[in-house]
Amino acid sequence: MKRLLYTLLFFNLYVSCKNPIETRNTGLITKNAMAVSARVEASIIGNDILKKGGNAFDAMAAMQLALAVAYPYAGNIGGGGFMVYRKANGDIGSLDYREKAPLAATKDMYLDKNGNVIPEKSTLGAMSVGVPGSVAGIFAVHEKFGSLPIEDIIKPSINLAYKGVVVTKKQEAKIKRYQPFFLKANKDSILFNKVWKMGDTIKYPALAKTLERILDHGKNEFYKGETAKRLVNFIQENGGILTEEDLAKYTVKWRTPTTFMYDDLKIISMSPPSSGGVCLAQIMTMIEPYDLDNFGHNSVKSIQVITEAERRAYADRSFYLGDPDFVNIPGETLISKTYLNDRMSTFSFEKATVSSDVSHGNVQVVESNETTHYSIVDPFGNAVSVTTTINGAYGSKLYCSDLGFFLNNEMDDFSSKPGIPNMFGLIGGDANSILPEKRMLSAMTPTIVEKNGKLFMTLGTPGGSTIITSVLQTILNVHEYNMTMQEAVNAPRFHHQWLPDEIRMEPNSFDTTLIFQLEKLGYTINEKDSPVIGKVDGILVLDDELLEGGADHRGDDAAVGF
Ligand code: DON
Repeated sequence: MKRLLYTLLFFNLYVSCKNPIETRNTGLITKNAMAVSARVEASIIGNDILKKGGNAFDAMAAMQLALAVAYPYAGNIGGGGFMVYRKANGDIGSLDYREKAPLAATKDMYLDKNGNVIPEKSTLGAMSVGVPGSVAGIFAVHEKFGSLPIEDIIKPSINLAYKGVVVTKKQEAKIKRYQPFFLKANKDSILFNKVWKMGDTIKYPALAKTLERILDHGKNEFYKGETAKRLVNFIQENGGILTEEDLAKYTVKWRTPTTFMYDDLKIISMSPPSSGGVCLAQIMTMIEPYDLDNFGHNSVKSIQVITEAERRAYADRSFYLGDPDFVNIPGETLISKTYLNDRMSTFSFEKATVSSDVSHGNVQVVESNETTHYSIVDPFGNAVSVTTTINGAYGSKLYCSDLGFFLNNEMDDFSSKPGIPNMFGLIGGDANSILPEKRMLSAMTPTIVEKNGKLFMTLGTPGGSTIITSVLQTILNVHEYNMTMQEAVNAPRFHHQWLPDEIRMEPNSFDTTLIFQLEKLGYTINEKDSPVIGKVDGILVLDDELLEGGADHRGDDAAVGF
């Protein structure tokens, strides 16, 4: 927390005099616009759209498709996502195009007759696939806010798919690593079972044809047309339960984002069925009373405060959060100062709290009658923050060669059985149990930050359960520790999620003395299991209104702008 405005002002001036931005590690700086994503090809397509007069929403739709071509690891039309936006006039909103459970899904569908979770059933192959929302998401955004013709949005990705995408070093390693799983999930070997080396070009003609049909026939092609039929046949032939009715019934939801204040920042983030906004609000409200800037970046005290807040927020997540169309979430109470101050009352700098002593907090669940409403205004100055996923790396690993894309394994984001962790080690209960047409709880945290009523930052990241804490640390790095956007993205990250009771740290990034001090206070440190925590892509509005991109070097991420 920055308590004294004068101190803040002085400190900022001091830092900016002592450390002018030109001499610091900054990302791309541009004057007008910028697109930052996991692949330069997608950032270029987004930037081209903006250059030719399209708005951020046109670019959002075009980049979702471009990532489906250029970044099959996670980019998709076989998955879903969330978009948070802020328009130039200050209007904010969000779109939920998250996958849904198929109509034939049941609470115990991943359990054997003895009630045990069947390994890999919710993560690998056709049974793990949720009803995809991405194509509906693209069309919803374009219909509502887009300004360019749909050809301009889809054509660049069709061209890219025919032309092909060059394999990067990181991609070569990823493809190789997951090849055994591709063989396991698919009846035949797939495009990605070939030996692909850095510098090779992978062409995607089947995906190009699917996108051409979508261009010709619109959203219905994917949800009711020939593509829908071919997709359902493929999934069923592979033992899945998804039907044509599932696709035909899929709808996106425009939702009110979760908003809260932290010092002079207004944070706008995704509301349920993502846990991102609520957890971020909980953690930031719990840590606000502490002098993090004085404690220092990644100091013992800062790590303690943040860890203890994370522990408590993730405990609540596992109990209270799920699809708001199916469960009552006491949203306002969960992010209220009174409740959260009380949650932190058991924290002491002397000793780590033990996760087994921290259950979810005690909150009275009340009926909520919220209605969602959004308005449309002129486009320029809009900011958009989108996180999209097929869940695991290459999703379910099930690749529809006929249509040219991977299917998600988002069903694993449900709680298959209370108390049993999913692939991110997250535990859930009834609020996130499986029901037909329910959306699985997400941690995706597309976020926009305002400062003094103006756009300040837009950011987000992949990383499963570590998404929320990576977004948190990036905001704090800029706000509390005066980093540039790029420095904030680069800085080593740590993560705690209540259970398992450990602080995960990026390896070889934290000082051994610091680790020793934390261990002495009772914290368990795990530097093994997360070689990378998050891959944050953000844009910061600088004092002179220039834009600074932060593209994460942990991936092949790139900022492009003008
Ligand atoms: O929605 C979620 O929270 C997860 N399906 C996100 C998965 C993810 O970030 C994978 N990336 N590492």
